[in-house]
Amino acid sequence: MNKILIRLVIVSAIGVLSQTSRNDIPEDATMTFSELADKYGHKAEEHDVISGGGYILTLFHIPGDKHRPILLIHGAIDSADSYIMRGNTSLVIALARDKYDVWVMNYRGNRYARRHTSMDADSNQEYWDFSLTEIGYYDVPANIDYVLNKTGEDKLSVIGYSEGTMSMYLLGATRPEYNDKVKIFISLAPVCTLKNTKPLASIVIQIAPLLNVALEAINRNELLGQNSTLRALLTDLCSQKVGYQVCLINGLFLLTGADAKEIEPEFFPVVVGHFPAGTSRKNINHLVQISLSGKFRDYDYGMMKNMEKYRRLTPPEYDLSKVTMKVALIAAKNDKLSTIKDVEWLRERLPNVVDYTVMKSDVFNHVDYIWGRTAYKTLFPHIFRLLNKYNK
Ligand SMILES: *[C@@H]1O[C@H](CO)[C@@H](O)[C@H](O)[C@H]1NC(C)=O
Ligand SMILES: *[C@@H]1O[C@H](CO)[C@@H](O)[C@H](O)[C@H]1NC(C)=O
Ligand SMILES: *[C@@H]1O[C@H](CO)[C@@H](O)[C@H](O)[C@H]1NC(C)=O
Repeated sequence: MNKILIRLVIVSAIGVLSQTSRNDIPEDATMTFSELADKYGHKAEEHDVISGGGYILTLFHIPGDKHRPILLIHGAIDSADSYIMRGNTSLVIALARDKYDVWVMNYRGNRYARRHTSMDADSNQEYWDFSLTEIGYYDVPANIDYVLNKTGEDKLSVIGYSEGTMSMYLLGATRPEYNDKVKIFISLAPVCTLKNTKPLASIVIQIAPLLNVALEAINRNELLGQNSTLRALLTDLCSQKVGYQVCLINGLFLLTGADAKEIEPEFFPVVVGHFPAGTSRKNINHLVQISLSGKFRDYDYGMMKNMEKYRRLTPPEYDLSKVTMKVALIAAKNDKLSTIKDVEWLRERLPNVVDYTVMKSDVFNHVDYIWGRTAYKTLFPHIFRLLNKYNK
């Protein structure tokens, strides 16, 4: 009751203040992954992959040449949608047009992966007891195995973005047998330690532990789920005309790096329709811990519980020298989360980096890889070159 009241007050205040009408919500903002695929000329199948611990994850598949399977892994609080929301100029449609066998996964906890063989995400708070650890150790390999089984291939290519790159490095380090199943891992906005993030991101990361304690105290374990109050509030605010200034220019861009030309006002409501797509508080807290410690390591439960779980005071670090798969790193100068300094640190430690590319544009930033208006011209040709060379 309280929540609804607060939301009503805030939304009407915004309405009064802005005195502008709502942007016409484009149809693409409200469509699912499969509906978007269909609209842009490619039928998508939906597969259920059962991951470790009984989590049920939707895996989208646009069938192509079975000998060229490719798996796409999304970033934090996101879903498969980010790879298709640009429609005809999205990476999914570009790969499908080129007859790749395209598979796009979803982490546990997002809008397409909020199911479980025995738990209910709404009533069982244990459902949300997962972080990057489980995503990398269970969800990613479950999807890799599923694709290899369905295609009958020994190897596949993988493209990951942001947290989707961390989960692959975690997998390669903790289950090294998976390195041999990957032809090439193309890392967009590679993230590993988040040690040198820039303001405002770095400042938000400094205060995040306080927020985490507050959310934990009120037992709020799902963050920004599709049907959550906070998500509804953001949607209301950010789909107004004023939302472009408030939510993007003076909001998200401060965290990711900005280039307003790449996310035009007409497109922003489509982003808001699909992002954020929900995850666990613990997942985000794990990323914050990694950033604050500067160490790519397992979840930090505090000294007492670490002793119990790991038999040591601090969580064990992941050994990057075990990530022997071929890796291509693509970084950008205006990315405040995945900074050049951090990507170069990673590059020195991964044993098999076959390509390292920094985007030419000075303003290319964290979100342009997936949402950028001209990524199909500035980024995709490079991805296709890498695939042609290594996806044999
Ligand atoms: C997408 O592009 C294809 C090929 O250029 C075109 O035929 C189709 O009409 C476009 N679809 C939409 C919805 O814009
Ligand atoms: C959100 O609510 C709708 C309508 O009740 C439901 O169909 C959908 O599955 C829910 N989505 C999530 C991610 O909980
Ligand atoms: C896929 O898995 C099924 C069930 O485990 C198995 O029977 C089948 O042989 C597998 N197919 C391939 C190509 O590995």
